[in-house]
Amino acid sequence: RDQCGIAVESRINCGCDRSLSRADCEARGCCYVPLPQSGLGGPPWCFYPVRYPGYKMGPLLPTEKGQRATLARSAPSYLPRDIPTLQLDLMPETLGRLHLTLKDPASPRYEVPFVTSQSRGHKDIQNPLYDVDFQPDPFGFIVRRKSNGRVLLNTTIGPLLFADQYVQLSTSMASSVISGLGEHYTPITLDLNWTSVSLWNRDMAPHVRPSEHFTFCFYFLSSQQQCDGYSVLLLSKMAYYVEVFLQPAPALTWVTVGGILDFYIFLGPSPQSVVQQYHEVIGYPMMPPYWSLGFHLCRWGYTSTNITRTVVQLMRQAKIPLDVQWNDLDYADQRRVFTFDLQRFGDLPRMVEEFHQLGMKYVLILDPGISSASPPGSYKPFDDGLKRGVFIKNSTGQILIGKVWPGPTAFPDFTNPTTQDWWTDCIRVFHSKVPVDGLWIDMNEPSNFVQGSVDGCPDSDLEKPPYTPGVIGGQLNAGTLCVSAQQYLSNHYNLHNLYGLTEAIATHRALLKVKSTRPFVLSRSSFPGLGRFSAHWTGDVRSDWEQLRFSIPGVLLFGLYGVPLVGADVCGFGGDTTEELCVRWTQLGAFYPFMRNHNDKPNAPQEPFVFSQQAQDAMRTAITLRYSLLPFLYTLFHHTHSSGSTVARPLFLEFPTDPDCQTIDRQFLWGSSLLISPVLEEGALEVTAYLPPGTWYSLHNGEAYYSKGQYILFPAPLDTINVHVREGSIIPQQVPALTTTASRRNPFTLIVALSVGNWAKGELFWDDGESLDTFEHGNYSYVLFFAEEVQNRENFGLMLTSDICFILLSCVGAIQSELLHQVLTVAGLDLPMTAMITVQWS
Ligand code: GLC
Repeated sequence: RDQCGIAVESRINCGCDRSLSRADCEARGCCYVPLPQSGLGGPPWCFYPVRYPGYKMGPLLPTEKGQRATLARSAPSYLPRDIPTLQLDLMPETLGRLHLTLKDPASPRYEVPFVTSQSRGHKDIQNPLYDVDFQPDPFGFIVRRKSNGRVLLNTTIGPLLFADQYVQLSTSMASSVISGLGEHYTPITLDLNWTSVSLWNRDMAPHVRPSEHFTFCFYFLSSQQQCDGYSVLLLSKMAYYVEVFLQPAPALTWVTVGGILDFYIFLGPSPQSVVQQYHEVIGYPMMPPYWSLGFHLCRWGYTSTNITRTVVQLMRQAKIPLDVQWNDLDYADQRRVFTFDLQRFGDLPRMVEEFHQLGMKYVLILDPGISSASPPGSYKPFDDGLKRGVFIKNSTGQILIGKVWPGPTAFPDFTNPTTQDWWTDCIRVFHSKVPVDGLWIDMNEPSNFVQGSVDGCPDSDLEKPPYTPGVIGGQLNAGTLCVSAQQYLSNHYNLHNLYGLTEAIATHRALLKVKSTRPFVLSRSSFPGLGRFSAHWTGDVRSDWEQLRFSIPGVLLFGLYGVPLVGADVCGFGGDTTEELCVRWTQLGAFYPFMRNHNDKPNAPQEPFVFSQQAQDAMRTAITLRYSLLPFLYTLFHHTHSSGSTVARPLFLEFPTDPDCQTIDRQFLWGSSLLISPVLEEGALEVTAYLPPGTWYSLHNGEAYYSKGQYILFPAPLDTINVHVREGSIIPQQVPALTTTASRRNPFTLIVALSVGNWAKGELFWDDGESLDTFEHGNYSYVLFFAEEVQNRENFGLMLTSDICFILLSCVGAIQSELLHQVLTVAGLDLPMTAMITVQWS
């Protein structure tokens, strides 16, 4: 009885796999204590008693990487095919990073090979930030922060279950404010009121129920900044289906359909350092080409080259910046990739050349599904692929055929090196005709319009694990491939969530080989590490105000996940937009790291030029503002590429000790110094924005606001997005133009937001914007700006007309002399004190 006396919020569900009657529950040896409200969705009625039997831990023995113990189960669990003996490996990797795996030593399971880290453990790490204690029977572990004894994770709150197709582990969390766990349509902090999140990449438009989702990226960040300024992050690198149950204790239960448990625990201590430690493991994001930070325009339904040309012309007539014009599936002959329709897109190569002449770039869509229904000899990508054995096979060894846009399709297996070579060849041949600048890889969950395959899926344990997960459609193969399908590295059951990442790697590699400049790839499906190869967009968002609002946490989460080049479809993809929504979305989109207006086929057009003059003016202002800030944005990308800091940043990351910032996700920062507070409600002409303590200057008019850490009401007429510059920062800008090709030649400007102590600093990373590895090879300039009150004029190389002086602290790299010259010709300024000032040089 006593063993069932557990606080309701701490009950760990004994029926994660299915709902249980009293008899079923008691047969499992669990406690059955009904509650007044319905057992569905709330606290469980059937839960584990204290010290529910599990594994017994043997002695910890030293290994090369840390310590190892054997866990053994003496009595069977209620699951089929228990794994009786497990191997626990504890690998302290750095002072703040602990790696822990639990696996079946008798039969090796698939392990994700893509996490890059220096994942070598070191048994002799002296004085790590953590302590680990074990409860030997039933097995559990407790991770504490050594400095204050605080318990970060405690898995003794529930049993460890480990069967062939069902693995379950629960842990307490040290905070109720947590973020992460992949891609979902929620606020930035997760709801712990008996919710669940499933991690299974899926073609699905974003919508409200948090356990439903489309593409996913795995990991879990618990931000505990409100307590004593520390964070923990748990990274799981498992590619098979996972469901995570959250409860108010606060606690979570991690359930998977088998395999291994593979966790990293990062101890920060600050939230920003947790994100950086995570980047150390998954790899730093790529440096994007400069042009990819410009404005992109796309829609499904630009049905010919002439229509596409007209769009570009109208944008130029409206004097609205546009760097990249896109085409969706319309270009392809019968929707087959690597072809173009000779009737409507016959002069596609010429059109792309024309865009290049205008200083613009061109990107088109490339779905992974390869049409398998063309007559033999008529469609080379399939014929060649067939010969070279690049396609995923079904469980009996024939090519698995599904259905996507072109009809019957085969799916390339990007885990196979031969497929990667074939993909490169396809891209090389296509590029020799149509010199695209980047590729948009869509439908790569992978999406399939039939369940599993055109022939269905076998009736096997893999297709129907004993645990029926909370996946949409009820089965793992719904909307995708049979999970028993065979790939080069393993079966699809184990590899499903890696499909998008492996395609992104292959596409990035192909572009690298074909173009020898920085690749631009945009992927819908994601997995940790994607940001090294690709940008991401948040899928088929609807044109409505709620989706506008939730696009912010969507974008911010991907920044934490190491995919900083991310945005939502500006003005919304599904349904007709309205003029007001599209203006507000363009203003917010001007601050997405990746800005693309994209629209679905049946909808009313939403290019900026289709709206009233007033709306066009507002959109032009927002996009032009973005263009003027691109040197600053680019510098932020340099930092994320070189040190894993974030570009679009949630406030809690920058102000971890400010309790007001914990959950804010209607505003965000660029780096540490620009605060963006968009209008997210229909009809609103004002916005209530939180300003963390300090002085903030309106980017719009330089007006200073002294905040004690408070909400302030700002006017936000239709032509204005509120952006504030943090005191003490210098923002490098450049005079905008209609393309980045042109703006990169324009004069630079500095915005100097002085602190109360009359100083400010900032920096600029500058290179040619497209060569490979400029940072790694030293082909760049890096300028640090510092402004302060002049004490001793003689000491400074660069004098301005007032008492404020700029010092060029350092300038390195091959193109430094040109930049240095530009900086030194700054002149003739009247600099008011304690205000925002602008310095221009040309
Ligand atoms: C998917 C994509 C969308 C694209 C469409 C047609 O729905 O998410 O962006 O326009 O396919 O290719």
